[in-house]
Amino acid sequence: MGAIKNIIQWATDPWGLSVPIHIAWFLIWVAAIAGLCFLVVHAIWVRYFAKPEEFAGAVPSELAAHLPERVPRHSLTARLFHWIMAAAMFTLLFTAFLPRVGVQFDWVTYHWIAGTVLTISIIFHVIHASFWLDFWAIWPDKADLQDAWKRMRRFLGQPAPAPRRFAKYPLENKLYHGAIIATGLSAIGTGIFMMFRVKTIFFPRDPYLFSDMTWGLMYVLHGLAGVGLIALVMIHVYFALRPEKLAITQSMIFGSMKRDFYLEHYDPERWAVEESSVPSVSHGND
Ligand code: HEM
Repeated sequence: MGAIKNIIQWATDPWGLSVPIHIAWFLIWVAAIAGLCFLVVHAIWVRYFAKPEEFAGAVPSELAAHLPERVPRHSLTARLFHWIMAAAMFTLLFTAFLPRVGVQFDWVTYHWIAGTVLTISIIFHVIHASFWLDFWAIWPDKADLQDAWKRMRRFLGQPAPAPRRFAKYPLENKLYHGAIIATGLSAIGTGIFMMFRVKTIFFPRDPYLFSDMTWGLMYVLHGLAGVGLIALVMIHVYFALRPEKLAITQSMIFGSMKRDFYLEHYDPERWAVEESSVPSVSHGND
């Protein structure tokens, strides 16, 4: 209980009751240092300890011959969404946390504008992913769990067959996406209500919409989601910049990846190349 008390900043309301007002700001450093520790440990592990990737089975050569030279991965629509969301996310993080670490500026207006952009982009993304993309591609499936078990045993030095090649998104990406959903939706859900506390173009200010206790808890959840996103975004950028992942990052810019990279890492049965892109060079998949 004491620990929970310490991660929150408290105030006394007019009736003498103790109410939360927001998170304790040292959590910014906890999140940043946790993110940094993850990167350092992961980088050391990959450099000095990890064995080379090994997958079960080979891709049939007749299938490989029919693949286009560049395999489409992200449509133009999906890429535009990704970069708009990323710009909104960075703006939110910097406007929220720079003033807490000593860089003072009038941050609230930039913050709620970026929050609105993020909210709209996520609503768009949910609709786009549900009706135009393969909705199930980002959720763990049975093959992921079977392979995770094999990979875990091999990691621990126990005998286990090699896992299959990946679907469009490996299990780690799917779990990361889940963590982003939890933190992102918490920040958005609370952020929309918090706009009632400041002046925006959407609705009249109404700081009495909730009790002090409810507002306080809302600010705490918003802050916890926010610091969680510091670590998550650091980890995401780190992986995007790792040399062995650059082909994936480039596909988020140009839309496609080289056939050899696809054949090395992905299972065409689990992530099929679109018919329309075989055999010519693709223009995306929206
Ligand atoms: C996703 C990343 C986000 C991060 C890291 C973040 C972080 C923060 C932080 C740390 C605060 C200060 C809260 C406090 O004083 O306790 C804050 C305030 C605020 N946030 Fe966010 N936020 C995010 C998303 C959003 C979204 C999506 C919206 C709107 C839809 C939003 C709207 C607001 C508003 C209106 C305030 C000002 C509240 C006030 O000053 O009374 N935020 N945010």
